Amino acid sequence: MNKTIVVLGTQWGDEGKGKIVDFLTENSDFVVRYQGGNNAGHTLIVNKKKIVLHQIPSGIMHKKVISVIGNGTVISPTSLVKEIKMLEANNICCKDRVYISPNASLILNYHISMDLAREKRLNEIVIGTTGKGIGPAYEDKISRIGIKIYDLANLNVLKLKIKRVLNYYNYQLVNFYKEKSIDYKVIFNELAQSASFILSMVRNVPEILYKAIKDKKSIIFEGAQGTLLDVDHGTYPYVTSSNSTVGGVCTGTGVGPKHLDYILGVSKVYMTRVGLGPFLTEVFDEIDDYFFLKGNESGSTTGRRRRTGWLDIVLLRKAIKINSLTALCLTKLDVLDELKEIKICIDYKFSSINSSIRKEDFIFSQNTLENITPIYETLPGWNESTAGITNFKFLPILAKKYINRIQELIGIPIDIISTGPSRDETIVIRHPFKI
Ligand code: IMP
Repeated sequence: MNKTIVVLGTQWGDEGKGKIVDFLTENSDFVVRYQGGNNAGHTLIVNKKKIVLHQIPSGIMHKKVISVIGNGTVISPTSLVKEIKMLEANNICCKDRVYISPNASLILNYHISMDLAREKRLNEIVIGTTGKGIGPAYEDKISRIGIKIYDLANLNVLKLKIKRVLNYYNYQLVNFYKEKSIDYKVIFNELAQSASFILSMVRNVPEILYKAIKDKKSIIFEGAQGTLLDVDHGTYPYVTSSNSTVGGVCTGTGVGPKHLDYILGVSKVYMTRVGLGPFLTEVFDEIDDYFFLKGNESGSTTGRRRRTGWLDIVLLRKAIKINSLTALCLTKLDVLDELKEIKICIDYKFSSINSSIRKEDFIFSQNTLENITPIYETLPGWNESTAGITNFKFLPILAKKYINRIQELIGIPIDIISTGPSRDETIVIRHPFKI
């Protein structure tokens, strides 16, 4: 059945969305990115080959699918061109299959320098960013000094805009951060070289998607990062600079909310986070080593070791509400295979230290965190391999119990379970395109 489906993360990113998008794409005509930039790293294993995508939507792996990069994204032209070359070197044709909104914003060298300079200097509010210039690029967009994709169409105006904005950046980089200044010529010349190639991909994205919906085509909106990294709803200030929650789909593509048919939240059966910030169910020592090794938990963009922890149902429920999720997809079930016991955080205990905080008004922010400890339910592990299982009925009984318990706690259906990194290592309980 033709549908529009949103696939987004319910955690701090790295939930395995890329694989799920890739899996669902065989039934889709378009895959659309609506926010974020090359801070994302979507790892796909296709024909035993690992491909990491940063800016191009995961649908590119399927020949008939058009990949769309919406206006809500920030695009590094250098990294985009590199990614397209990498795909073409892997025999994945991108010509006429990648559409870019003219309103998407550019990430340029000065954004990266600023991102890195801040992380180096302001020790007290280090975020642990990916260092890709995401924050400064979004700041420029909001302060209306950003350079947009459409600016590539007029090189004279582009030159003036870069000069103007660089004055501002160089002043801060040199005087405040004691970093080197940046020469506009380096940036301009690089952009001028890739301008016509990038412009060849520019399309009127809202019109194309509107027509696609009217023509009953199927569309997947692919979220980057995750709900808890959302700039408004996440663990601020330890968040990214975009709306990774469902609202970002509408603002980031120009598709209205009435046209979103099915919203799938993706959640690992445990949790990870890269960078700094609160993580109530975080584990250390041997359980952390276990998740790290068995789950291969190194960042696909920066290679950093991810922090790991138990599944937090309180946060999952929050993600369900904020995103009005239709259903959940659980990933990496097989990572739990060798654990004797598995914990799920089912609630929080609030200490009485700060009596001004009422539990029902709890906002997940830095200020309230010190007063909270997680309450766990412990379930027995199954100690059997679930790797590659494709039918729910073949799962060990204890694994079924574990999944059913999560479903009971969250109150929405679990439609998909991933049991390995490849497309075919997937249990489909209800297929989003077929219900
Ligand atoms: P930024 O998006 O590079 O500004 O980084 C802000 C925070 O989001 C940092 O904690 C990053 O580690 C995190 N982050 C950004 N993108 C991703 C992602 O794709 N997966 C996981 N964490 C991410």
